[in-house]
Amino acid sequence: MKIEEHIKNLFIAPDKSNLNIIEETIALFVTQMLDYLSNANSSAPLPLFRKLPSEEFSIPAQGMDISAIQSKLNTLYQNSMNPANSRYLGHMDSIPTVYSILGEMIASAINNNMLSLEMSPYLTQLEHHLIQQFTQLFELSPETSGGIIVSGGSLANLQALVVARNQALNVKDTGLCFNAQIPVIFTSEASHASVVKSAMIMGIGINNVTKIKCNHKYQMDLEDLQDKIKFHLAKGHVPIAIVATAGTTVTGSIDSLPEIAEIAQKNQIWLHVDAIYGGALIFLPEHKQRLKGIEFADSISFNPQKWLYVAKTCSMLLFKNYPAMVDNFRISAPYMKEQTDFINLGEITIQGSRNAEVLKLWLSLLSIGTDGYRQLINHGYNLSHKFTRLVAKLAFIELITEPETNVICFRIKAEDTNQQEQLNIALQEYLLKHGVFVSVPRFNGQIWLRMVLLNPFTDENIIEELCRYLQTFYDECDT
Ligand SMILES: Cc1ncc(COP(=O)(O)O)c(C=O)c1O
Repeated sequence: MKIEEHIKNLFIAPDKSNLNIIEETIALFVTQMLDYLSNANSSAPLPLFRKLPSEEFSIPAQGMDISAIQSKLNTLYQNSMNPANSRYLGHMDSIPTVYSILGEMIASAINNNMLSLEMSPYLTQLEHHLIQQFTQLFELSPETSGGIIVSGGSLANLQALVVARNQALNVKDTGLCFNAQIPVIFTSEASHASVVKSAMIMGIGINNVTKIKCNHKYQMDLEDLQDKIKFHLAKGHVPIAIVATAGTTVTGSIDSLPEIAEIAQKNQIWLHVDAIYGGALIFLPEHKQRLKGIEFADSISFNPQKWLYVAKTCSMLLFKNYPAMVDNFRISAPYMKEQTDFINLGEITIQGSRNAEVLKLWLSLLSIGTDGYRQLINHGYNLSHKFTRLVAKLAFIELITEPETNVICFRIKAEDTNQQEQLNIALQEYLLKHGVFVSVPRFNGQIWLRMVLLNPFTDENIIEELCRYLQTFYDECDT
């Protein structure tokens, strides 16, 4: 085939002239993808890491044909993390909804740009209206609240803190160079690393993130929070924000939001709630009270890419006072057509050009509905209860704390710390050898095994099987 012919068939012709070829091409790749995903339980949840030869990734001078590309993709599939395996329990990486896979594909196909209304006339409005519904689900005031969608939780936390800093120090125009006051962010020892990373990026500095101790449930210790606020105020430092967490990364704990909100309000400090993980509880009437107090937050970050099963990335950032956020953040871009009803989203987000991540969220919501989400999220809770009931009978296992969500940390007890570490690392390897993946975070200097019970195809039999493996591993160690 001549090169011109080949290139022509790599784009969808707007006059249907190559529709058959494109349909065939897409069908071949979809079949290959579905072959892999529908057989996910026959590959390991985590592939053995192997370094691939650099030729594998070389850029060809001539475009390759379909079978050569599919052969490359086979290697990719075989060497990829496999969250579709129902024994993949290790991280907050969910299996994506089918509609979010379609949403990602359609968003790429129409290739609109969330930068401006002109470049995404339907999708900008969709994002606005969907976000308004989420502000209501989080019970923020309908008159003043609003928000944006961004690519991932770290970006959401960063933007929340940038707005909080600009408001607290009034440095949107001048920057921090002439600021004599030391800014401080308060967050718990169990909060996500993106808080510290944000401080580094924002010129606040890692050392000015004051870590608050945790209680036995890995929630922020309220007395320590108050003491540290008092200490910094006495030194003339300026608090930028308190970052509370609803669903900590390692233990799934939810900070005491009503009390923290009261402390924030009393001291007039911005309250950001990182509900990246636990925010999904808004869909669960039976557990929603765990988020009580979140409605007092100045900003909330939430990742539908986690417990709402939307394909990565998809995160949102909500503000109690949206107009104030716009004042404290907006950078106008004169090359974009000015709008009256809808602000061009690129002016109020860190990203400029942006994928329409809202589409896969919307399609997932349309296809699952709030009742469906309630069932899905409850499934994780049920598995979590099943596991805690079963391990209560295994005297050699300890839990880090009673799980508050579907994130559970456990390990084998041992007198000697070194021995305990080796034993638990060996246990993780043993489970992986038997096809079950749990992660091994180091938390507060100690190794734990961590499960996130997200996958709708993980069932009670798998939890029972896992507990049997715990017992056999322990028996084998004992003999
Ligand atoms: C509590 C919490 N906050 C923030 C993040 C960062 O989100 P992302 O990985 O999407 O940047 C995570 C990631 O796991 C998290 O668990």
